[in-house]
Amino acid sequence: MPVNLGIVGATGLVGEEILTSLNMLDIEFSELRLYGSKESVGKTKIFRDKEYSILEFKFDELYTSNYWILAVDNPIAKTIIDYRNEHKIDCVIIDNSSEFRLSNDVPLVVPEINGNFLKTATHHVIANPNCTTTILVMLLHPLRSISKINEVTVSTYQAASGAGKKGLDELLQQVKDWTFGDSLTQDYWHKQYLFNVFSHNSKLNKEIGYNEEELKIVRETKKILERPDLVINPTCVRVPVLRSHCLSVAINFESNVTKEEIFEALLKFKGVMICDDPENNEFPEAIKSQKRSEIMVGRIRPKLNADETTNLKTWNFFISGDQLLKGAAYNSVQILSDLIELS
Ligand SMILES: NC(=O)c1ccc[n+]([C@@H]2O[C@H](COP(=O)([O-])OP(=O)(O)OC[C@H]3O[C@@H](n4cnc5c(N)ncnc54)[C@H](OP(=O)(O)O)[C@@H]3O)[C@@H](O)[C@H]2O)c1
Repeated sequence: MPVNLGIVGATGLVGEEILTSLNMLDIEFSELRLYGSKESVGKTKIFRDKEYSILEFKFDELYTSNYWILAVDNPIAKTIIDYRNEHKIDCVIIDNSSEFRLSNDVPLVVPEINGNFLKTATHHVIANPNCTTTILVMLLHPLRSISKINEVTVSTYQAASGAGKKGLDELLQQVKDWTFGDSLTQDYWHKQYLFNVFSHNSKLNKEIGYNEEELKIVRETKKILERPDLVINPTCVRVPVLRSHCLSVAINFESNVTKEEIFEALLKFKGVMICDDPENNEFPEAIKSQKRSEIMVGRIRPKLNADETTNLKTWNFFISGDQLLKGAAYNSVQILSDLIELS
């Protein structure tokens, strides 16, 4: 079957990296159509030596391609997917927004973990998980082969590009403003981002005290790992980094676990790279994981008891991952690649 691919949001941060990922995974297609907002229509993009004009997305366009990747915000993704479902258009949509991630009839897929969902040909919509969630589950999944995981405590250090072009551009603008002694532009973040660290900007659920990003981690991790009973204790924070999220993770296992078992499980798992060199104090960093598809894992150490003896039931990790690649675009293109292979 020919692969005709449409990318909606091709001019955004995730959209750009979808094109990069098509090359990283060597995806062949017959036709490619790129869509942006009205402001981008008529602009062009060069991909594999060919010039593509950015098109305006209209619902009828859904009939032109059999595979779609959406890299747009929730309301736009919702209208497109609702239209596809209402008209039963024969195409598969891989969605980067959070709109359908928790819907019972939509699989939430990280191919290395639950790619089996792609084998049931009935799904026309596949959700790509939240970027921080994907980075976290890439650590949790291989480790649960050693012992059941009871509880996860995670603190995040999230980059500005996680908020899209506008968020990234405003951090860069603040760098310029600061350099030239101008007052800092605060149209998007509504605060000083440069040289600052602050609680994630997503909406706070005041009743329970967690923000939307934290709740996405809790709910999506449970869905992907099929562990509704898993206790997850998240704190999400923005740091003035351009790209790549870092996470500090403490995992409480049901039984004692050794360092050798952890290394063995991680080394066997594709998509994870151990970066743990205590001799040279070399561990995962945002900059090291930028533009890489793997999640970097390091600072692997057991919890300390009060008397500084080790508690082998709880292990601490520091991990980093490019949230635009494995956290979004690369994972979507892996899904596409698997779907093409299965077709
Ligand atoms: N950034 C991340 O790290 C990340 C990670 C995981 C998931 N996501 C999700 O991925 C999606 C895209 O995020 P992003 O960071 O790439 O955002 P972004 O940089 O702001 O890009 C948004 C894209 O949507 C396009 N767009 C806006 N209105 C449109 C319309 N009416 N029709 C067609 N295209 C339209 C924009 O086109 P113009 O360029 O013409 O404005 C742009 O290509 C969001 O749902 C986000 O939550 C993002």
